[in-house]
Amino acid sequence: MIKVAPSILSCDFSQLGTEIKKTDLWGADWIHIDIMDGHFVPNITFGAPIVKSIRPFTDKTFDCHLMISEPLKYAEDFAKAGADIINFHIECQSPIEDTIDKIKSLGCKVGLTLKPKTPAEAVFPFLDRLDMVLIMTVEPGFGGQKFMSDMLPKISAISNECKRRNINIPIEVDGGISMTTAPDAVNAGATVLVAGSAVYGSENPAEIIRNLQRI
Ligand code: DX5
Ligand code: ZN
Repeated sequence: MIKVAPSILSCDFSQLGTEIKKTDLWGADWIHIDIMDGHFVPNITFGAPIVKSIRPFTDKTFDCHLMISEPLKYAEDFAKAGADIINFHIECQSPIEDTIDKIKSLGCKVGLTLKPKTPAEAVFPFLDRLDMVLIMTVEPGFGGQKFMSDMLPKISAISNECKRRNINIPIEVDGGISMTTAPDAVNAGATVLVAGSAVYGSENPAEIIRNLQRI
């Protein structure tokens, strides 16, 4: 079944703990936490202390998406704060191999993330060391943007390369995911759907999550 990871970027920050608890009860598979440093992307969100403060509100997997320039420097803070998965960008300034090693040594799962302009092939040399791949379907930085359907061939290319090499890892997509756009992403090979505005902007978030899971 398809997994759904609501992005708390679109939740009510004044009620963070309650929102996390609700997201758990709605049936979310993972909680997607967007970390932005105002340098790698033109926006600032949460740091490790916030991740730590929401950790007690659910046992669900914390899927931390680091949109930061130096993930190697901060990975340990997020691991200690309770991250289960640490996704970092292939376009960052830290050495990729060392950052993968570091995240694994901290006991977390590691994912590499690709911005829209980065080609599928960029991640191929690292595939057998990764626990997942995260493909951006919007420019990272903000919630509520339009799904870029020209990313569909990239999702297929990465999914096919994994199949060809017998690598069975989740392929997560992030940005503009809704019941309108998700079926194409799933057909292309996505197995985990991040959804921010589609979930938190809905009258019935549990139903949206259920419908996305059933695609
Ligand atoms: C964008 C973030 C996304 C974002 C998704 O930089 O990585 O996780 O919150 O939000 P929606 O689903 O509204 O596009
Ligand atoms: Zn994200």
